[in-house]
Parts: sequence; structure tokens; C-alpha cells
Amino acid sequence: MTPLDYEYLRKLLRERSGLDLSADKQYLVESRLVPLARRNGLAGIGELVQKVKAGSDALTVDVIEAMTTNETFFFRDKIPFDNLRQAVIPELMQARAAKRSLRIWCAASSTGQEPYSIAMVLKEFAAELSGWRVEIVATDLSLGVLEKARAGIFSQFEVQRGLPIQLLVRHFRQVGELWQLNADIRAMVQHRQLNLLQDFSHLGTFDVIFCRNVLIYFDQDTKASIFERISKQLEADGVLALGAAESVVGITDTFKPFPDRRGLYCPNVARAMPRVATSQAMPLKAVASAR
Ligand SMILES: C[S@@+](CC[C@H](N)C(=O)[O-])C[C@H]1O[C@@H](n2cnc3c(N)ncnc32)[C@H](O)[C@@H]1O
Repeated sequence: MTPLDYEYLRKLLRERSGLDLSADKQYLVESRLVPLARRNGLAGIGELVQKVKAGSDALTVDVIEAMTTNETFFFRDKIPFDNLRQAVIPELMQARAAKRSLRIWCAASSTGQEPYSIAMVLKEFAAELSGWRVEIVATDLSLGVLEKARAGIFSQFEVQRGLPIQLLVRHFRQVGELWQLNADIRAMVQHRQLNLLQDFSHLGTFDVIFCRNVLIYFDQDTKASIFERISKQLEADGVLALGAAESVVGITDTFKPFPDRRGLYCPNVARAMPRVATSQAMPLKAVASAR
């Protein structure tokens, strides 16, 4: 790959997906794009770049998808899901008792393990949430991962990563060497394509937002812009979950960490005064104690 081809791809990826590649990541681009070039009958990255420059939209999408990292697994990091089960959902059920509605957004949901982990936690509250409107919206940039997520079919390796055996037995059916997630859990999640670089205000507001292990690939300005826009989609007493290697510190003051709940953040009310003043929502106990 020539330095010019690399610079072209870096710019394209930053503009289209937010991926912020440092100057020394040629090996990563080669390892992902040489196989893509071969599959398309092209000699190498040089020809691939020529086709993309010539305006091949399909190939451009393939380049962007090939460069996304889709690593995920059930109940990743465990603690956010324990917090969801032990504190966030019970407290939101109290706060939303009149409205009887819960909306959860899993941004950058990859192949579905994360939104389905959330769905399995919510299923534990099925009796209490009977008659409630419960929505889990899972979004990702990549159509390929969304297709796999919708199918809800996982390999033995995938179900062995993070999924407790009781939940495997309860919610999956073995089909040959694969595991099919039961229809009731699949039906709890709506999958939609969405690029976090673009406007997402049409999604409406949420009580909980999971946006984990995607912002690490973006530069500071992109992260700050996404935090700012996410803060507008989160209820004043809502909760944001980030990945273990992610934080708001030094990037934005729109959120602040929960002191005792690793990976969870709440809207920074002091900064967002006008919006909070108009909110009818009752503050969660945990939020109140954190303020
Ligand atoms: C490493 S996975 C994280 C999956 C899951 N959140 C987790 O923590 O296990 C990152 C996901 O972000 C998606 N992604 C990358 N850039 C994106 C963008 N600009 N908008 C939306 N999703 C994006 C990728 O397609 C990929 O599925």
C-alpha cells in the first residue's frame, strides 16, 4: 500500500465511520483490506482504492465494514449487567410506575450479544413489567452484524463466552452445532442501522443507553460530539453505560460517573439545568445519592 493510498483510506474511514487510525496502522488496514480486494478479484489495495475513488458505493461500504471491529460477547464485563439487574431496573421501575414504559438503547450493538444480554436481564422482571411498554433498540453501523444479530444464531464458541449455562438452557435451542436464541427474547430487541456520526434525535429519548467499546476508536472531538448528542437522548434520571476502557473524564462534562457503579454515568444535572427543570421524571435514588 502506498502512503497516498493509506492517507486516502484514513480520511475516508474517519469521515464515514469515525475510525481514527494513527499514522502507523498500515498493517491493520492491510490485514483487513487485502482479503476484501482478493474477494473482489482485485490485485491489491491500490486497485481497491482506485475503485472506491471511482465511486463504487458498494465497495466503499465493504471497506468501512471490513475496518469495523465487531468483538463482543454475552454479559461483557459482567458488572454493568449486575448493576442493571440489582439497581438500575428496580429503581427505574419505581420512577416510571405511572408511565409504565422503559426504553433502552444499545448503540453499537454488533452481533447482538449485548442487547440480548439486556433482554435476558429484563426477562427476569417479566412479572413486574407485565403490561409495561418495554423497548430495546439495538443499532450499529454495519449491516452485516445486524443481519447476524437479527437471526439470533450463535456458535458454541460464542455461547461459551460470558453466557451463564442456566441462561443458555433457558433461552436457547440447539440446532446442530449452533444455538438459536428463543423467539421471545429476539422479539424484545429491534435492530436498526445507525451511524453514530449522524443525527440520531429521531430515536427519541431513553432511560438507559449502552454505548460500549465503540468510542475508543474515535478521536476526542468525535467522542465529545457523540456524548453531547447522546445526552439529549437520555432522560434526566437516566443511565449511560460505557465500556471498561472508556470514560467521560477529560472529554465532556455532559455526564458524570456514578461513584460506586463502575462503567455507569448519569447526566450532569448542574450543566443541563434547563432540560432538568422541565422534566417530570422522579430522580432515581442512586442518582440522587450520587449528586
Ligand atoms: C467492538 S464492537 C462493540 C460491541 C458491543 N457494544 C460490546 O461492547 O460488546 C464495536 C461496534 O461498533 C460499530 N461501529 C463502529 N463505528 C460505528 C459508527 N460510526 N456508528 C455506529 N456503530 C459503529 C461496529 O460496527 C461494531 O459492531
